[in-house]
Amino acid sequence: MAKTLTLGLMSGTSLDGVDAVAVDFSGVGPRLTGHHHIEFPKELKESLLALCQPGDNEIDRMGKTSVELGKFYVHCINELLDVADIGRKDVAAVGIHGQTIRHRPEEGWTLQLNNPALVAELSGLDVISDFRARDIAAGGEGAPLVPAFHRQVFMGEVARSVVNIGGIANVTFLPPRRGYGKIIGFDCGPGNILLDAWCRKHIARPYDTNGAWGATGHVNEELLEKLLSDPYFDREPPKSTGREHFNLEWLEKQLADFGTLEPADVQATLVMLTARTITDAVKRFAGRTEEIYLCGGGALNGALAQRIRECAGENIYVRSTTALGVDPMHVEAMAFAWLAWAFLQKKPGNLPEVTNATGARVLGALYPH
Ligand SMILES: Nc1ncnc2c1ncn2[C@@H]1O[C@H](COP(=O)(O)OP(=O)(O)O)[C@@H](O)[C@H]1O
Ligand SMILES: [Mg+2]
Repeated sequence: MAKTLTLGLMSGTSLDGVDAVAVDFSGVGPRLTGHHHIEFPKELKESLLALCQPGDNEIDRMGKTSVELGKFYVHCINELLDVADIGRKDVAAVGIHGQTIRHRPEEGWTLQLNNPALVAELSGLDVISDFRARDIAAGGEGAPLVPAFHRQVFMGEVARSVVNIGGIANVTFLPPRRGYGKIIGFDCGPGNILLDAWCRKHIARPYDTNGAWGATGHVNEELLEKLLSDPYFDREPPKSTGREHFNLEWLEKQLADFGTLEPADVQATLVMLTARTITDAVKRFAGRTEEIYLCGGGALNGALAQRIRECAGENIYVRSTTALGVDPMHVEAMAFAWLAWAFLQKKPGNLPEVTNATGARVLGALYPH
């Protein structure tokens, strides 16, 4: 039997863990045949987090962490195959995004830590990795790469924006299937990254479940205006950002002028910042949007989704991708399974109109098992 499944492994800027999916793309639409989420072990998470900022002895730390990460990816693959009862013989390849530890498209490079050789060796599967480099080599931002997959599964009769709220939030504008207009995709700013960092600092939890803690605070309008004045939000797309720009130090620098604030008020303000920067970006750069579909972990934050609804206003309908038949937590990993599948078909994975690359390119590099 032909190998019809591709696996996708995604771990984003939130560093919450790895989302792993198995998808069959041989039919008309993608068919999800398995999914699994595994949290990063504490030590691995800390090593990865430390590598996201410049620091001492980075090359050694990076090398060692890549070995741990590779082994962890193998563990994720094994668990996924187990829980979904999938045999290795049915798997064409696994697409592994890797962990972004630096993203500097303006300097012509990006770095997703990974260990595809080790994963191929230990998993017995073909591994496709390093999806972003080729787009950057062709002059693009190397991000976002999910819009091509969004186009495939989420395009509809009306203009839609798909908003993925991971650590960073990104928007994909999809014109109506039978209409005019081009696809637009860009990172609009922080998604959960600041919310998580502030939460860790003040209530010692990895994230604010359903936004409950933030909902006890009040939005500080003055602080909100200050946060919104970061020049990134005003920049025209294409644009992409990451942990190197939006992080706890960034937030603390903005807070320096404000004296003592109630931590829950800061959290409430950060929720509003995420909601405002998403909806402002949609209105400004994807102004024809009639429907917003949320995905990524932020879609599970009810308080945030409510704020997005309020800021979107009554002319834009806001729902999660569940309404389109895809679990919000599976979208990104499915996109990397799709990119692996596109690689196998020698089909381009980037959208030049989104990333600003000089052309469509086949993305990724193959490590045969
Ligand atoms: N129930 C929830 N309530 C609030 N936030 C949540 C919930 N579930 C997940 N999240 C948020 O989503 C993040 C993970 O989202 P994810 O899409 O995996 O991001 P990334 O792609 O950056 O890894 C968590 O760090 C957390 O901030
Ligand atoms: Mg994640």
